[in-house]
Amino acid sequence: MSRPNGLIVAIDGTAGTGKSTVGRAAAEALGYSFLSSGGLYRALAYTVFAKKINPADTEAVLAAAQALQFRFERQADATLKMFVDGEYLGNKLQLDEVAQTASKVSTHAAARAVLTDKMREAGKDGGIIVEGRDIGTVVFPDAEVKIYLDATAEVRADRRVKQLAEQGVSADYDRILASIKERDLRDSTRAASPLKAAQDAIKIDTSSLNKEQVIEAVIKEIKQHAA
Ligand code: DC
Repeated sequence: MSRPNGLIVAIDGTAGTGKSTVGRAAAEALGYSFLSSGGLYRALAYTVFAKKINPADTEAVLAAAQALQFRFERQADATLKMFVDGEYLGNKLQLDEVAQTASKVSTHAAARAVLTDKMREAGKDGGIIVEGRDIGTVVFPDAEVKIYLDATAEVRADRRVKQLAEQGVSADYDRILASIKERDLRDSTRAASPLKAAQDAIKIDTSSLNKEQVIEAVIKEIKQHAA
């Protein structure tokens, strides 16, 4: 399929496998845009939290999703900066409470459909790498390139602790590991669009690879399809 701006590349996988780091770097190298779909779920979670909506209330979560207005602005580093109802939420979306609530609100199929439409609209012209849980299976099943990243929960917890340390935040390894496992379980066992690799996805286990090696493998794969 030919799209005006290039291919659609889907990168899916569990939390903490490096999807964002790798996707952003590959997009920058190729002149593509990069969209982190978790950001939309986190924005919904943030609203649900701020409005004191029960994350288990299907109707209220759907109404909140429908009311959200997203705008994306491409940055020099390839990321699509997301404005929610005109506001850039930045670090507020990185809190662990927001991530856990995102994992909960994302179990509702109707709310997912609303956010899926917004992502399709943002990516329809191609030239984009989209990262998430169901990008290759549901959001863009016709993506030209599908990558599925995985790593053991222990490796991912370790990376997260180091990442937080770099930001000057001290974190408890056991608590982070438990949180990662809890999200993995919920994300992969939910009825609506559970996390799973698309049949035609290229699977990469990043446990024993460094960032540069994964970025290189992903860029190589995209270039092969673009040729
Ligand atoms: O990738 P992330 O940590 O920012 O995602 C936060 C949560 O959002 C994740 O635990 C599950 C949900 N999510 C989803 O259900 N589908 C996606 N495509 C992306 C994220």
